[in-house]
Amino acid sequence: METIGHKLDHPQRIYYFDELLFLPGFAKRSPRDVDVSMKLGGFSLKAPLISSPMDTVTGPELAAALALCGGFGVIHRNCTTEEAVKMVEETKKAKIPEKYNATAVKDSKGRLAVGAAVSTSDLERATALADVADLFFTDVASFHNLKVYEGTKQIIKKTGKKTVIGNLGTKAGVLYAVKELGKENIAGIRVGMGSGSICTTTDISGVGSPGPVAVEQAALALNELGLLDEIPIIVDGGIRHSRDIAFSFGLGASLAMLGNLFARAEESIGEKVMKDGKLQKAYWGMGSAEARKKRLALDRYQSSNKSVDEGIKMYVPIEGKVEEIVERIVAELRVTMGYVGAANIREMRDVTEIVVRTAKPPEFERTG
Ligand code: IMP
Repeated sequence: METIGHKLDHPQRIYYFDELLFLPGFAKRSPRDVDVSMKLGGFSLKAPLISSPMDTVTGPELAAALALCGGFGVIHRNCTTEEAVKMVEETKKAKIPEKYNATAVKDSKGRLAVGAAVSTSDLERATALADVADLFFTDVASFHNLKVYEGTKQIIKKTGKKTVIGNLGTKAGVLYAVKELGKENIAGIRVGMGSGSICTTTDISGVGSPGPVAVEQAALALNELGLLDEIPIIVDGGIRHSRDIAFSFGLGASLAMLGNLFARAEESIGEKVMKDGKLQKAYWGMGSAEARKKRLALDRYQSSNKSVDEGIKMYVPIEGKVEEIVERIVAELRVTMGYVGAANIREMRDVTEIVVRTAKPPEFERTG
């Protein structure tokens, strides 16, 4: 194709979650009986939910509470290596009350499982975390980057750790990642760029790959490689409703990473503040001025040495214990899965029909 004069001839349409709708499917079982569990790097998750490694979201308290109810926490990295190691160890020290025996995600020693965010340019930190954390999550705004690959390869070579890579946003990017790193080293792929609730990357740069597009692109790549059932796609950024997770599953993802929704948990590490007469939590992007003040996760954003903020600060309502949030999301996912007739998350990909709304649903005047 000519590089000049044709880029706008057949532009690819991008979609946001709010534009999507499932057509109903034939339900063979009740929502109660659908299976929402999913595997991640050898661990069996009863709830397909992962917490974002952000310094207003995941510390040991949230990571432990989430692992107890079947999800997976990822300790943030806007701290020193020692602090990160300590947070992982603290998560592992948490007791497992009997009532969580059926749901808790455990390591081979029966302790809670937990992941750690790693910087691809900090081999020392990764080496220190390798002995304590169960899985690594590369934590970079764009994995489409030569230096990031060099760093990731070094980390995998030195630690031999199964790693969730990302963030990625295109089919070509995913094909390249699997070829370069080898499928056996990849525990999952975080997809979505510029779509986080606190993200200003797209506003500033014009670059992005919102959830629906990023998931479909990654699914196309893994399908081509015959790895769609082997490497889970994790939708990351912009999840506001349970249905957004359901749409992602319909497009090929099998797990969701949540920042904003988990920042609302009592256990998140965001600071509690009284705002508008209500207790709220501060939530900010890892590329925001607030996070960058700590200057420890600066390498997440390429522009960070030039002081361009790629994230903002906001306040979110406290919605209860993380367990209650997980229960609500899982219950709502079950409703969708019931309506579309999917018995499990894999079936969401195979049986669902997704259509694109051309208009908003009509609004009726409501009184009372
Ligand atoms: P949320 O669930 O919509 O709030 O999105 C959370 C996700 O946004 C995280 O998991 C990261 O992938 C991404 N993210 C975190 N901090 C920033 C930032 O400062 N700018 C852009 N994206 C960010």
